[in-house]
Amino acid sequence: MSAYIQLDNAICVPVELAERSYRVWIGPEVRHRLADVIPADVARVAVVTQSAVAAAGITVDPGVEHRVFIVDDGEQVKTLSRVEQLCSEFAQWGLTRKDAVVAVGGGAVTDLAGFVAAVYHRGVRVVYVSTTLLGQIDASVGGKTGVNLPEGKNLVGAFWQPLAVLCDTEALGTLSAAEMRSGLGEIAKYHFIGGSRADGLEDLSLAERIARCVQIKAEVVAADERESGRRAILNYGHTLAHALEAHGGYNLRHGEAVAIGLVYAAEVAKKMGRISAERVQEHRNVVSGYDLPCSLPPNADVKALLRLFSKDKKATEGVTFVLDGSNGVEPVTGLAPDMLLEVLEAIR
Ligand code: GLY
Repeated sequence: MSAYIQLDNAICVPVELAERSYRVWIGPEVRHRLADVIPADVARVAVVTQSAVAAAGITVDPGVEHRVFIVDDGEQVKTLSRVEQLCSEFAQWGLTRKDAVVAVGGGAVTDLAGFVAAVYHRGVRVVYVSTTLLGQIDASVGGKTGVNLPEGKNLVGAFWQPLAVLCDTEALGTLSAAEMRSGLGEIAKYHFIGGSRADGLEDLSLAERIARCVQIKAEVVAADERESGRRAILNYGHTLAHALEAHGGYNLRHGEAVAIGLVYAAEVAKKMGRISAERVQEHRNVVSGYDLPCSLPPNADVKALLRLFSKDKKATEGVTFVLDGSNGVEPVTGLAPDMLLEVLEAIR
């Protein structure tokens, strides 16, 4: 934990991006530090949150004049029409480029409000108060913002780094078991992309584990902010996960889909001679250690999943997978469809 700053019951992880650098604070009730991270020249704050978050008592005080904008619950809020509506509401209120947006909620709220912040008045400052496990270890860190189109998820967006991220671990107590499982699948991913940083991840407290995952992600983002290469490793396990989610018939949480995707990616890597059977077993042990599935749903339509692989947003040269190997996890292009299908059949 050497690179962490520990202060008053919270852990602080820096995200080093030159003039866009910021800190991610992790701990119980860190949302109450919000006023401390709002710059002194901000006169007004637009707080964007969801009714379920407010109803769970997760509210914030930015310490300056503010107005709360409630958006619908869930991923369906990430639409261009909601972006337009929020921009209009901000304009009617008189929010200026000198002010700030604060998003309070999970990944859907931070993705939406972050994108609105990126485009409103050509960019206003934004702070995230992240309240879900999935949001804390992924969406809130690294500056990806965006909304969905009917044609696919996150197809419209911008890189826009927040000023600070507050990951309130007290808020995790308000999540359903299913929502927690969704975050655990992403945590499982970090066991394999963090190199030595990921050693002993399983022995840490939840707050420390979140901090270590954030630290791993921060290092990847610092090396490749705009995903011209290395950042793609954060999608380990996600090609199959996205296909399972896009198919829509399997009723899987994101983390469950990622868990199956991790095992599948390991089996594909073994098939290609990149990793050993023992390394595949490590994947299975980590995934089942989080009580997440290692197999496809029994009714999975493997041919449909294969077709969906080539529609993945990251697929620039045929089917691309992030695969483990002697150099660690890395994107590999041009995978043979027959082999992918055979391995899909094998993990049913
Ligand atoms: N969620 C993957 C990334 O932030 O790059």
